[in-house]
Amino acid sequence: MIIAVDGPAASGKGTIAKALGRHYGLPVLDTGLLYRAVGLAVLKASGDPDHEADALAACDFDDAMLDDPALRSEAVGSLASRVSIHQSVRQALVKRQRDFATQPGGAILDGRDIATVIAPDADAKIFVTASVHVRAQRRYQDALDHGGHPDMDSLIADIQARDTRDMSRDHAPLRVADGADLLDTSNLTIDAAVQQAIALVDAQLERRRQA
Ligand code: DC
Repeated sequence: MIIAVDGPAASGKGTIAKALGRHYGLPVLDTGLLYRAVGLAVLKASGDPDHEADALAACDFDDAMLDDPALRSEAVGSLASRVSIHQSVRQALVKRQRDFATQPGGAILDGRDIATVIAPDADAKIFVTASVHVRAQRRYQDALDHGGHPDMDSLIADIQARDTRDMSRDHAPLRVADGADLLDTSNLTIDAAVQQAIALVDAQLERRRQA
């Protein structure tokens, strides 16, 4: 069984994917980490994330980089969004994601193009979203909790810039896939969002069984 969880930055898709993984006993791949690793590798190589050849060369990143805490920063998230517009970069990361998706026993993947490109035949597809203000507020709280000094206006601007880039790129833009259910987490607690996600997945699985 493959479950695809897509959505914009800070929508809660990662938290929901992990909770679904625990509920259904499936391994989870946060595919954003792959793009973040490419972004960080470009930075370390003093390359230009907007230059396709530099970004492609960085796809060769060392697997150990996937555990680097620096991957979680806003700055690296923005680099990831920039390298992800290049078709060759996306292509270089496809096999890894499909191998994970098709492992025996099933898997859950979260990202931007899981239900549209990586696993269009997924058994269940959820598109997680939330208002820009709520997403910025989550990032703000997260930064405070980690001892940072966040600025709300720049967080809102960053999220809007990332949404625009992720949704308007030519290759595999972020969009709601055919057959995906929308889950708006703006006014939901984490527990409520997870319960709704499980209900949506169960309903999709049931519909497939009956089809
Ligand atoms: O989910 P995230 O914030 O960690 O993703 C960082 C960036 O990586 C995101 O802005 C766009 C890119 N990305 C992508 O293009 N496709 C994916 N499946 C996952 C992430």
